[in-house]
Amino acid sequence: MVTMKSFLTTCVVLLIISNNFVDCISKRNILEDDQELEHDPDAFLLVPEIIEKYGYPVERHNITTEDGFILQVHRIPRPGAIPVFLQHGLLASSAEWIVMGPEKGLGYYLYQLGYDVWMGNMRGNRYSRNHIKFNANDKEFWDFSFHELGYYDLPAMIDHIIKVTEHKRIHYIGHSQGTTSFWAMCALRAEYCDKIIGMQALAPVAYLDNAKCPLIVALAPLTNSIETITKLLGKYEFLPNNELMALAGQALCKDQAITQVMCTNIVFLIAGYDSDQLNKSSLPVFLGHFPAGASSKQLIHFGQIRKQGKYQLYDYGFIGNLLKYKSIKPPLYDLNKVTAPVVLHYSQNDWLADSLDVLRLKDELPNVIRTHIVANPKFNHLDFLTAIDIKKLLYDDVVNMLKEFEQLRMK
Ligand SMILES: *[C@@H]1O[C@H](CO)[C@@H](O)[C@H](O)[C@H]1NC(C)=O
Ligand SMILES: *[C@@H]1O[C@H](CO)[C@@H](O)[C@H](O)[C@H]1NC(C)=O
Repeated sequence: MVTMKSFLTTCVVLLIISNNFVDCISKRNILEDDQELEHDPDAFLLVPEIIEKYGYPVERHNITTEDGFILQVHRIPRPGAIPVFLQHGLLASSAEWIVMGPEKGLGYYLYQLGYDVWMGNMRGNRYSRNHIKFNANDKEFWDFSFHELGYYDLPAMIDHIIKVTEHKRIHYIGHSQGTTSFWAMCALRAEYCDKIIGMQALAPVAYLDNAKCPLIVALAPLTNSIETITKLLGKYEFLPNNELMALAGQALCKDQAITQVMCTNIVFLIAGYDSDQLNKSSLPVFLGHFPAGASSKQLIHFGQIRKQGKYQLYDYGFIGNLLKYKSIKPPLYDLNKVTAPVVLHYSQNDWLADSLDVLRLKDELPNVIRTHIVANPKFNHLDFLTAIDIKKLLYDDVVNMLKEFEQLRMK
């Protein structure tokens, strides 16, 4: 189904999504019958504003990491209740958990069930672009991948939540990169793994050997040529280059006929094809919050993992590795150190977290309590956030496991 040409087109389109995606959508290609949705204000509000708008309590917490980044964490507070920490994926933000509205958003749902809900924001996304010394124009600011998210950001946020709530342990639920960074955290700072009641991994990523996501597949062979890749991605922040953007934007988003197909399908092509769980009417709001920012190095690190077939630290090249790691090759993350109990929720039509790669991860993690394959063969990477039947297909299982973890770990 995916020819070489459409494959390459997809890669180009993926590079332009940062700026042109919302544009594409607002050109009425998806929303012909439902025009007022184009102007759904939720696409333009900030996460705390949306939560307030729906009548829920909300708090913003600024948390400074050991290396000086200031992260803004959003909380739907229920003081005294057990904290659940939700951590978003690549190019995303705390919006992942609330843009689907009070009926579908996991953040609201967990609050309704009596939990104290904390939603993280990793360095570099729109809520976490401050640093005590650098600003977002400095190259030093963007020198990170999921490694730093695991080493600095997650521990800082976990410490803060534990300090504020006075709970000894908290639940963790991560999506995609929110799982990759979690495994890294446990491998690098095992003591934090012990602060987790249970880890629920939605679309878990450590290996990408079988990933079909065009962006990762296209990047992998280029990861050796820093010059090519930074030209494509942007040197520091992930910013697609202008020429490419203009070209692809013209070709793909101006012509109504093509637009409709491409701008609709691009969503599937990031995350998996052919879902029957996508509600097109909710796309504009979702796309108002995505992509939310990332570094080029983040994408390159994922490309390296795909290329090497190893869940390993960032590859700085021969000399760089010697200086940094005192070995020619980067060390592996030790998955044996992920001692927190884990549930892996995965699906068969996920173009990033392919089920073969998830099963390999399962074999290497020491404390997997359960694997849950979503009972819909078309369920894709995005459906973990937006599926029409998300409660039945995913949340029911997640909530059961929260209870089970509590019995296991809080006796
Ligand atoms: C958090 O940081 C933001 C951005 O720097 C700032 O505008 C806001 O006042 C801070 N809030 C608190 C409570 O410190
Ligand atoms: C699709 O999304 C719209 C807008 O958010 C919502 O009103 C509608 O109920 C949703 N449909 C389904 C089947 O979930």
